[in-house]
Amino acid sequence: MPVITEIEDLKRIYKRRVPKMFYDYAESGSWTEQTFRENSSDFDLLKLRQRIAMDMDNRSTKTTMVGQEVAMPVALAPVGLTGMQHADGEIKAARAAEKFGVPFTLSTMSICSIEDVAAHTETPFWFQVYTLKDDDFMKRLFDRAKEAKCSALVITVDLQLLGQRHRDLKNGLSAPPKLTPASIANMMTKVQWGLGMLGTKRRFFGNIVGHAKGVTDPSSLSSWTAEAFDQSLDWERIKQFRSWWDGPVILKGILDPEDAKMALNVGADAIVCSNHGGRQLDGALSSIRMLPQIMDAVGDKIEVHLDSGIRSGQDVLKAVALGARGTMIGRAWTYGLGAMGEAGVTRALEVIHKELDLSMGLCGRRSVEDLDASNLLIPEDFATRWKASA
Ligand SMILES: Cc1cc2nc3c(=O)[nH]c(=O)nc-3n(C[C@H](O)[C@H](O)[C@H](O)COP(=O)(O)O)c2cc1C
Repeated sequence: MPVITEIEDLKRIYKRRVPKMFYDYAESGSWTEQTFRENSSDFDLLKLRQRIAMDMDNRSTKTTMVGQEVAMPVALAPVGLTGMQHADGEIKAARAAEKFGVPFTLSTMSICSIEDVAAHTETPFWFQVYTLKDDDFMKRLFDRAKEAKCSALVITVDLQLLGQRHRDLKNGLSAPPKLTPASIANMMTKVQWGLGMLGTKRRFFGNIVGHAKGVTDPSSLSSWTAEAFDQSLDWERIKQFRSWWDGPVILKGILDPEDAKMALNVGADAIVCSNHGGRQLDGALSSIRMLPQIMDAVGDKIEVHLDSGIRSGQDVLKAVALGARGTMIGRAWTYGLGAMGEAGVTRALEVIHKELDLSMGLCGRRSVEDLDASNLLIPEDFATRWKASA
């Protein structure tokens, strides 16, 4: 195995091994990609406060997220089409997360189905749903997630409309991939990926094909998807979804304090301060910059998680120090999966864990539960530079 010391190493291998169409799908944001870039670069504005001669022995990164024990405050975010990044990708990633002791979130838009992932894992995973119009399909999804014993439901609330990513349109992204002369030529160079794909039957959207009305084969899927998202979504509808699930509900995609307060009202157990990894509203502020305002609005009443831009354990530390109970990583584990399958996801988690643990110690803390803003040096205008007028 090559020497992998940081997430960037996994990304380099990932780029070599996976067809360009799928690399571009993950490694892009909407429109100018400003929000995508700033999600990561804004973490760099926060500095760590070095302390010495404090007991740094017996450190622990263990904590809880929605009441569940986690080995570190990190969950695998839902990532669609993962089974195209690596054969049987969702199963591989879920197994890596299970062994590491962090939650795996399965996307509705996954290649492996809920039942398939449940059959190949022992620990309950989280299931993510979009806010779709089709009530029958939604209810069945909830029931299927219940039957699979999913331990939390993540409702993604920032995708009423689909942001535009230039490269996906130019590449003709689809599952299975569109075979143009250019994509065939590119795939021919990705031998390991191709062999993996030939060796699996899982190549379509496993949660949808055969389950949504009228979607019996992959070719009918694109028209279903175009129609499926509910542009008229409102909080009443979100409340209805909440009432369909008995266990913990996490609302993912909250970036504004007013929306955070609404999330409280509908009875969410946690929110994820997130801009979908810069894939939705380009020009929105980074999640880490919005976190202090969200914490001020609801931090003492509801569990707040954060995603978008996390590429290291130090990023996790910064989010937790600003008040997040936990974080989610999307691309960081996807790079690992595309690079080396299950072992790559494990490696991504190990890298992040080591960075978190060491940095925490060097900041003079022994437990992630003790991290707070006093561990950071924060620019004075970090949370106030851009403010809504009302
Ligand atoms: C390739 C890709 C696919 C994604 N698919 C989904 C999805 O199906 N459902 C969802 O709620 N979020 C999806 N997201 C958003 C992630 O859950 C998460 O919010 C985002 O990746 C966090 O940013 P990061 O990648 O910088 O860590 C996707 C993100 C990426 C990069």
